[in-house]
Amino acid sequence: MFEHIKRVPGDPILGLIEAFNKDTNPQKVDLGVGVYQDARGNTPVMRAVKEAEALLLRQETTKSYIGSHGDPRFGKVTLELVFGSDSAVLEADRASATQAPGGTGALRLAADFIHAQLPGRGIWVSDPTWPNHLGIFQAAGLEIGKYPYVDDDNRLDFDAMLDAIKRIPHGDVVVLHACCHNPSGFDLSRAQWREVMEVLQERELLPLLDFAYQGFGEGLDEDAYGVRLLAENMDELLITSSCSKNFGIYRERTGCMIAVARDREQMDNVRSQMAIVARENYSNPPAHGGAVVTEILESAELGAMWQEELKDMRDRINGLRRDFVEALSPHGLADRFSCIAEQRGMFSYTGLSAEQVEALRAEFGIYMVRTGRANVAGLSSDNLSYVAGAFAAVST
Ligand code: LMR
Repeated sequence: MFEHIKRVPGDPILGLIEAFNKDTNPQKVDLGVGVYQDARGNTPVMRAVKEAEALLLRQETTKSYIGSHGDPRFGKVTLELVFGSDSAVLEADRASATQAPGGTGALRLAADFIHAQLPGRGIWVSDPTWPNHLGIFQAAGLEIGKYPYVDDDNRLDFDAMLDAIKRIPHGDVVVLHACCHNPSGFDLSRAQWREVMEVLQERELLPLLDFAYQGFGEGLDEDAYGVRLLAENMDELLITSSCSKNFGIYRERTGCMIAVARDREQMDNVRSQMAIVARENYSNPPAHGGAVVTEILESAELGAMWQEELKDMRDRINGLRRDFVEALSPHGLADRFSCIAEQRGMFSYTGLSAEQVEALRAEFGIYMVRTGRANVAGLSSDNLSYVAGAFAAVST
């Protein structure tokens, strides 16, 4: 029965973990999968998370199911984190939270919901986008279209983006990266968010905001600008929020599918459908990560500790961006790669070709995604000049 089954190549991002671990080059550098690394190349458990886990260990009384929407306490703290605690959207009770297995799980809920409840609607993603967007939406049976995002000179191509969105059929779904665009690192300015919103409103398009890096760009509230703008000024939108990166709980699979509707009644209707989608996929979400996040966000002390740790991560990445461009300067490459200092979040689209990325791996043990995406958090003061030298070597 299995004779006809073909072997396929590994995932372009997750496959790098294994390849990197196998590499015996003592100078190897991991700029691959989007996981935060500290100056020593470790991905530590945050202190606030450790403390919350200690509390949970003492206090947890049951491992029973938490229901298809997950823990309501987690839903509440997540909505407040995403919209701000004084949000008019929350005041009007028109947002619903469904806890999900990571941002990926939330995206699959969104995709299945669209397929079942909004049949015939296409879904449009930026070109480039996180490759798994395509896998998830295809698996859910959605028709995928692309709008341009980055030009040939490796800069945000906002005019082309806006022009393309103006031509998307009425009622289709448009996926926008709320902040820290993955893979490019190019984010929209506030003025650009407003322009995009006008087009979405005019053409009655449904935004799906992928919010996987809140707090990694400029700050928790700053990074939520686009989400909050759209939520306050549009009747309907979907948001997939992830706790993987900002709480560093990648393997605990913690995220949230948020649906905003015109009013409470429509929100409740959508919410009831979301429970069905969750039930049919995995029934109940995993509970541990959500419980950790809830402990942290409900505690003033742990919340402050977490925000400080998150700020340290953000500042370190933004500092590395500037330092790396400086390290490229003696090679005459500071201008060519100046965009790295302007991009935000974990990733930079470097503009390097697949061949150059392959040469970095083969000759220098530097691992990046084939599309030229680098995880800036993998840089450190120890490897900056090594990586800059390698970039110079493959760029000439
Ligand atoms: C990434 O883009 O590297 C991360 O979001 C991890 C993943 O699942 O691909």
